[in-house]
Amino acid sequence: MGEKREGLKFYRCNTCGNLFFVMIDPDVRPSCCGNEMEVIDTIHGTEGSEKHAPIIELNQNDTEVQVGLQLHAMEPEHRIEWVALTDGERVEIQKLGLSTPPVVKFSKMNGAGKVRAYAFCNIHGLWESEK
Ligand SMILES: [Fe+2]
Repeated sequence: MGEKREGLKFYRCNTCGNLFFVMIDPDVRPSCCGNEMEVIDTIHGTEGSEKHAPIIELNQNDTEVQVGLQLHAMEPEHRIEWVALTDGERVEIQKLGLSTPPVVKFSKMNGAGKVRAYAFCNIHGLWESEK
């Protein structure tokens, strides 16, 4: 058994592109298309952060997540595919279209723990930040 971790863990199927996430991590690798799925490693602030790290804004009635201090590109060949948000009790995931900037309004998060946001760039991978 691995060390208990907080936040979400994402898995990808390299054959069909299926995406799984786990909220309660039993440390068992899910399978898809007959193969074990691969964990998508999360990147925390590093080079490229200014265009990828999700910025979480906790508002009175909602939670807003913006991808990148400088908004990330939304081109067919380079874009943010989805953004996810969790407070440890609830998870919301939003797929993004090409014509909209990577700014997403989620519900107000009421969990007692930290709020974590994830943004998936088709080229630069999965970025995580917390608030
Ligand atoms: Fe990117």
